[in-house]
Amino acid sequence: MHLRLATLQRSEQVIKIGIFDSGYGGLTILESIRRVLPKYDYLYLGDNARAPYGTHSFDVIYQYTLEAVKYLIEQDCALIILACNTASAKALRTIQQHDLPIINSERLNANREKVNVLGVIRPTVEAVPGITKTGHVGILGTPATVSSESYVLELQKIAPNLTISQQACPMWVPLIEAGEHDKPGADYFVDLYLREILSKDSKIDTLVLGCTHYPLLAKKIEQVAGSIQIIAQGALVAESLKDYLARHPEYRKQLSENSTCTYLTTENADRFSQSASTFLSAPIHAQHIDLITV
Ligand code: DGL
Repeated sequence: MHLRLATLQRSEQVIKIGIFDSGYGGLTILESIRRVLPKYDYLYLGDNARAPYGTHSFDVIYQYTLEAVKYLIEQDCALIILACNTASAKALRTIQQHDLPIINSERLNANREKVNVLGVIRPTVEAVPGITKTGHVGILGTPATVSSESYVLELQKIAPNLTISQQACPMWVPLIEAGEHDKPGADYFVDLYLREILSKDSKIDTLVLGCTHYPLLAKKIEQVAGSIQIIAQGALVAESLKDYLARHPEYRKQLSENSTCTYLTTENADRFSQSASTFLSAPIHAQHIDLITV
Protein backbone atom coordinates (compact mmCIF):
# COMPACT_ATOMS: atom_id res chain seq x y z
CA MET A 1 0.00 0.00 0.00
CA HIS A 2 2.79 2.40 0.99
CA LEU A 3 4.84 1.41 -2.02
CA ARG A 4 1.89 2.05 -4.35
CA LEU A 5 1.34 5.49 -2.85
CA ALA A 6 5.03 6.37 -3.19
CA THR A 7 5.04 5.27 -6.85
CA LEU A 8 1.90 7.26 -7.53
CA GLN A 9 3.31 10.40 -5.92
CA ARG A 10 6.51 10.08 -7.87
CA SER A 11 4.80 9.63 -11.23
CA GLU A 12 2.63 12.68 -10.55
CA GLN A 13 5.50 14.89 -9.49
CA VAL A 14 6.26 17.63 -12.01
CA ILE A 15 10.03 17.79 -12.50
CA LYS A 16 10.89 20.68 -14.75
CA ILE A 17 13.58 22.31 -16.84
CA GLY A 18 14.23 25.74 -15.33
CA ILE A 19 15.03 28.62 -17.68
CA PHE A 20 16.55 31.67 -16.02
CA ASP A 21 17.28 35.17 -17.29
CA SER A 22 17.60 38.62 -15.79
CA GLY A 23 14.39 39.56 -17.62
CA TYR A 24 12.62 38.96 -20.92
CA GLY A 25 15.65 37.86 -22.97
CA GLY A 26 15.53 34.21 -21.92
CA LEU A 27 12.11 33.96 -23.54
CA THR A 28 13.91 33.87 -26.90
CA ILE A 29 15.76 30.75 -25.69
CA LEU A 30 12.70 29.19 -24.04
CA GLU A 31 10.71 29.48 -27.28
CA SER A 32 13.39 27.68 -29.30
CA ILE A 33 13.85 24.98 -26.65
CA ARG A 34 10.10 24.29 -26.48
CA ARG A 35 10.00 24.02 -30.27
CA VAL A 36 12.68 21.30 -30.22
CA LEU A 37 11.70 19.63 -26.91
CA PRO A 38 7.94 20.27 -26.57
CA LYS A 39 7.04 17.40 -24.23
CA TYR A 40 8.86 18.56 -21.10
CA ASP A 41 7.62 20.86 -18.34
CA TYR A 42 9.28 24.28 -18.05
CA LEU A 43 9.58 26.92 -15.36
CA TYR A 44 10.73 30.33 -16.61
CA LEU A 45 12.12 32.84 -14.13
CA GLY A 46 12.86 36.44 -15.10
CA ASP A 47 14.52 38.58 -12.45
CA ASN A 48 13.07 41.71 -14.09
CA ALA A 49 13.06 43.68 -10.84
CA ARG A 50 16.88 43.60 -10.81
CA ALA A 51 17.56 43.75 -14.58
CA PRO A 52 19.78 44.65 -16.27
CA TYR A 53 22.48 42.40 -14.86
CA GLY A 54 25.01 43.37 -17.52
CA THR A 55 26.19 46.53 -15.82
CA HIS A 56 26.71 44.89 -12.39
CA SER A 57 29.93 43.53 -10.87
CA PHE A 58 30.89 39.85 -10.70
CA ASP A 59 29.84 39.55 -7.02
CA VAL A 60 26.36 40.93 -7.63
CA ILE A 61 25.71 38.86 -10.78
CA TYR A 62 26.92 35.70 -9.03
CA GLN A 63 24.80 36.40 -5.94
CA TYR A 64 21.62 37.12 -7.95
CA THR A 65 22.13 34.10 -10.22
CA LEU A 66 22.76 31.75 -7.29
CA GLU A 67 19.56 32.94 -5.61
CA ALA A 68 17.62 32.19 -8.79
CA VAL A 69 19.25 28.78 -9.25
CA LYS A 70 18.47 27.77 -5.64
CA TYR A 71 14.90 28.96 -6.05
CA LEU A 72 14.42 26.92 -9.24
CA ILE A 73 15.89 23.83 -7.58
CA GLU A 74 13.44 24.25 -4.68
CA GLN A 75 10.68 24.39 -7.30
CA ASP A 76 11.67 20.92 -8.59
CA CYS A 77 13.83 21.82 -11.58
CA ALA A 78 16.27 18.99 -12.31
CA LEU A 79 18.09 20.97 -14.97
CA ILE A 80 18.52 24.73 -15.15
CA ILE A 81 19.56 26.69 -18.22
CA LEU A 82 21.10 30.08 -17.54
CA ALA A 83 19.45 31.65 -20.60
CA CYS A 84 21.53 34.73 -19.95
CA ASN A 85 25.04 35.30 -21.30
CA THR A 86 25.91 37.64 -18.45
CA ALA A 87 25.05 35.00 -15.84
CA SER A 88 26.71 32.29 -17.96
CA ALA A 89 29.87 34.38 -18.25
CA LYS A 90 30.06 35.57 -14.66
CA ALA A 91 28.37 32.98 -12.46
CA LEU A 92 28.12 29.60 -14.22
CA ARG A 93 31.61 28.30 -13.52
CA THR A 94 31.53 29.19 -9.81
CA ILE A 95 28.07 27.66 -9.44
CA GLN A 96 29.17 24.47 -11.23
CA GLN A 97 32.45 24.14 -9.38
CA HIS A 98 31.57 25.47 -5.92
CA ASP A 99 27.83 25.50 -5.26
CA LEU A 100 26.49 22.49 -7.17
CA PRO A 101 28.73 19.95 -5.41
CA ILE A 102 27.39 21.21 -2.04
CA ILE A 103 23.77 21.26 -3.26
CA ASN A 104 24.07 17.77 -4.77
CA SER A 105 25.74 16.25 -1.72
CA GLU A 106 22.91 17.63 0.46
CA ARG A 107 20.42 16.16 -2.00
CA LEU A 108 22.19 12.79 -1.93
CA ASN A 109 21.95 12.78 1.89
CA ALA A 110 18.24 13.54 1.59
CA ASN A 111 17.87 10.70 -0.92
CA ARG A 112 17.12 13.10 -3.78
CA GLU A 113 18.46 13.00 -7.32
CA LYS A 114 21.19 15.33 -8.49
CA VAL A 115 20.59 18.51 -10.46
CA ASN A 116 22.68 20.46 -12.97
CA VAL A 117 23.06 23.98 -14.35
CA LEU A 118 24.06 24.75 -17.96
CA GLY A 119 24.89 27.99 -19.83
CA VAL A 120 24.44 29.42 -23.32
CA ILE A 121 27.94 30.51 -24.35
CA ARG A 122 29.49 27.15 -25.25
CA PRO A 123 26.73 26.04 -27.68
CA THR A 124 26.91 29.44 -29.40
CA VAL A 125 30.68 29.48 -29.75
CA GLU A 126 30.70 26.01 -31.31
CA ALA A 127 28.64 27.27 -34.27
CA VAL A 128 30.87 30.23 -35.16
CA PRO A 129 33.81 28.59 -37.03
CA GLY A 130 31.38 26.89 -39.42
CA ILE A 131 29.68 30.18 -40.32
CA THR A 132 32.40 32.80 -40.84
CA LYS A 133 34.10 32.90 -44.26
CA THR A 134 36.52 35.77 -43.63
CA GLY A 135 37.50 34.48 -40.17
CA HIS A 136 36.63 37.91 -38.74
CA VAL A 137 33.96 37.71 -36.07
CA GLY A 138 32.20 40.30 -33.90
CA ILE A 139 30.70 39.64 -30.47
CA LEU A 140 27.91 41.93 -29.23
CA GLY A 141 27.13 41.62 -25.53
CA THR A 142 26.48 43.35 -22.24
CA PRO A 143 29.40 45.19 -20.58
CA ALA A 144 29.76 42.27 -18.12
CA THR A 145 29.86 39.61 -20.85
CA VAL A 146 32.36 41.60 -22.90
CA SER A 147 34.66 42.34 -19.95
CA SER A 148 34.60 38.66 -18.91
CA GLU A 149 36.23 37.83 -22.30
CA SER A 150 34.31 34.51 -22.12
CA TYR A 151 33.51 34.48 -25.84
CA VAL A 152 37.07 35.32 -26.84
CA LEU A 153 38.56 32.66 -24.55
CA GLU A 154 36.11 29.96 -25.63
CA LEU A 155 36.51 30.79 -29.33
CA GLN A 156 40.30 30.80 -29.09
CA LYS A 157 40.18 27.25 -27.69
CA ILE A 158 38.30 25.84 -30.69
CA ALA A 159 39.38 28.20 -33.51
CA PRO A 160 42.66 29.97 -32.65
CA ASN A 161 42.93 31.57 -36.11
CA LEU A 162 39.81 33.71 -35.85
CA THR A 163 40.09 37.50 -35.48
CA ILE A 164 37.59 38.48 -32.79
CA SER A 165 36.30 41.96 -31.92
CA GLN A 166 33.88 42.73 -29.11
CA GLN A 167 31.40 45.53 -28.51
CA ALA A 168 29.47 46.23 -25.32
CA CYS A 169 25.92 47.48 -26.00
CA PRO A 170 24.82 48.83 -22.60
CA MET A 171 21.65 50.53 -23.89
CA TRP A 172 20.09 47.56 -25.67
CA VAL A 173 18.82 45.58 -22.65
CA PRO A 174 17.28 48.65 -20.94
CA LEU A 175 15.51 49.51 -24.23
CA ILE A 176 14.07 45.99 -24.44
CA GLU A 177 13.10 45.79 -20.76
CA ALA A 178 11.30 49.13 -21.20
CA GLY A 179 9.45 47.86 -24.31
CA GLU A 180 11.15 50.46 -26.54
CA HIS A 181 13.00 48.02 -28.80
CA ASP A 182 10.60 48.27 -31.73
CA LYS A 183 10.20 52.05 -31.50
CA PRO A 184 12.11 54.51 -33.72
CA GLY A 185 14.16 55.71 -30.70
CA ALA A 186 15.98 52.37 -30.61
CA ASP A 187 17.44 52.97 -34.11
CA TYR A 188 20.04 55.39 -32.79
CA PHE A 189 21.57 52.88 -30.36
CA VAL A 190 21.41 49.97 -32.82
CA ASP A 191 23.28 52.05 -35.35
CA LEU A 192 25.78 53.36 -32.76
CA TYR A 193 27.06 49.98 -31.50
CA LEU A 194 27.11 48.36 -34.94
CA ARG A 195 29.11 51.25 -36.37
CA GLU A 196 31.52 50.97 -33.44
CA ILE A 197 32.21 47.26 -33.88
CA LEU A 198 32.56 47.57 -37.66
CA SER A 199 35.02 50.43 -37.21
CA LYS A 200 37.20 48.04 -35.14
CA ASP A 201 37.31 45.49 -37.99
CA SER A 202 35.70 46.11 -41.40
CA LYS A 203 36.24 42.46 -42.46
CA ILE A 204 33.71 41.12 -39.92
CA ASP A 205 31.25 38.84 -41.76
CA THR A 206 29.65 37.25 -38.69
CA LEU A 207 28.11 38.95 -35.67
CA VAL A 208 27.17 36.95 -32.57
CA LEU A 209 24.21 38.28 -30.59
CA GLY A 210 25.85 37.39 -27.28
CA CYS A 211 22.89 38.42 -25.15
CA THR A 212 19.56 36.63 -25.13
CA HIS A 213 17.69 39.93 -25.21
CA TYR A 214 19.20 41.00 -28.53
CA PRO A 215 17.05 38.82 -30.87
CA LEU A 216 14.23 41.18 -29.92
CA LEU A 217 16.20 43.86 -31.80
CA ALA A 218 17.07 41.48 -34.65
CA LYS A 219 15.06 43.27 -37.36
CA LYS A 220 16.74 46.59 -36.67
CA ILE A 221 20.17 44.94 -36.35
CA GLU A 222 19.74 43.13 -39.69
CA GLN A 223 18.75 46.37 -41.42
CA VAL A 224 22.02 48.01 -40.40
CA ALA A 225 24.23 44.91 -40.73
CA GLY A 226 23.24 44.22 -44.37
CA SER A 227 24.96 41.08 -45.66
CA ILE A 228 26.73 40.26 -42.37
CA GLN A 229 25.60 36.93 -40.86
CA ILE A 230 23.80 37.37 -37.54
CA ILE A 231 24.01 34.48 -35.08
CA ALA A 232 21.18 34.28 -32.54
CA GLN A 233 21.40 31.67 -29.83
CA GLY A 234 17.93 30.10 -29.49
CA ALA A 235 18.18 27.27 -32.01
CA LEU A 236 21.81 26.52 -31.06
CA VAL A 237 21.02 26.23 -27.35
CA ALA A 238 17.93 24.12 -28.08
CA GLU A 239 19.87 21.61 -30.22
CA SER A 240 22.65 21.49 -27.66
CA LEU A 241 20.15 20.75 -24.86
CA LYS A 242 18.55 18.01 -26.94
CA ASP A 243 21.95 16.44 -27.42
CA TYR A 244 22.81 16.85 -23.71
CA LEU A 245 19.61 15.10 -22.62
CA ALA A 246 20.30 12.24 -25.04
CA ARG A 247 23.73 11.80 -23.43
CA HIS A 248 22.54 12.26 -19.82
CA PRO A 249 19.69 9.88 -18.94
CA GLU A 250 20.25 10.68 -15.23
CA TYR A 251 18.57 14.07 -15.84
CA ARG A 252 16.30 13.10 -18.75
CA LYS A 253 14.66 10.32 -16.74
CA GLN A 254 13.78 12.70 -13.91
CA LEU A 255 11.85 15.09 -16.18
CA SER A 256 8.07 14.90 -16.35
CA GLU A 257 6.34 15.23 -19.73
CA ASN A 258 3.13 17.25 -19.61
CA SER A 259 4.18 20.05 -22.02
CA THR A 260 3.49 22.79 -19.45
CA CYS A 261 5.24 26.11 -18.96
CA THR A 262 4.96 28.34 -15.91
CA TYR A 263 6.28 31.92 -15.86
CA LEU A 264 7.66 33.66 -12.80
CA THR A 265 8.95 37.19 -12.44
CA THR A 266 10.36 39.26 -9.60
CA GLU A 267 8.58 42.31 -11.11
CA ASN A 268 4.87 43.02 -11.41
CA ALA A 269 3.18 39.89 -12.81
CA ASP A 270 0.71 41.77 -15.03
CA ARG A 271 3.44 43.88 -16.56
CA PHE A 272 5.52 40.78 -17.29
CA SER A 273 2.53 38.89 -18.73
CA GLN A 274 1.70 41.76 -21.06
CA SER A 275 5.23 42.19 -22.43
CA ALA A 276 6.02 38.47 -22.56
CA SER A 277 2.77 37.79 -24.46
CA THR A 278 3.95 40.23 -27.15
CA PHE A 279 7.41 38.64 -27.39
CA LEU A 280 5.96 35.12 -27.51
CA SER A 281 2.94 36.06 -29.70
CA ALA A 282 0.69 34.12 -27.30
CA PRO A 283 -1.01 35.09 -24.05
CA ILE A 284 0.72 34.00 -20.84
CA HIS A 285 -0.05 34.57 -17.16
CA ALA A 286 2.98 35.09 -14.97
CA GLN A 287 3.21 34.91 -11.19
CA HIS A 288 5.21 37.25 -8.99
CA ILE A 289 7.89 35.80 -6.69
CA ASP A 290 10.53 37.31 -4.42
CA LEU A 291 14.08 36.05 -4.51
CA ILE A 292 15.53 36.17 -1.04
CA THR A 293 19.20 36.68 -0.32
CA VAL A 294 20.88 33.34 0.44
N1 DGL B 1 19.77 38.36 -21.40
C1 DGL B 1 20.94 38.74 -20.64
C2 DGL B 1 22.19 38.26 -21.37
O1 DGL B 1 22.06 37.34 -22.19
C3 DGL B 1 20.83 40.21 -20.37
C4 DGL B 1 21.71 40.71 -19.36
C5 DGL B 1 21.27 41.93 -18.62
O2 DGL B 1 20.34 41.83 -17.84
O3 DGL B 1 21.95 42.94 -18.79
O4 DGL B 1 23.28 38.71 -21.14
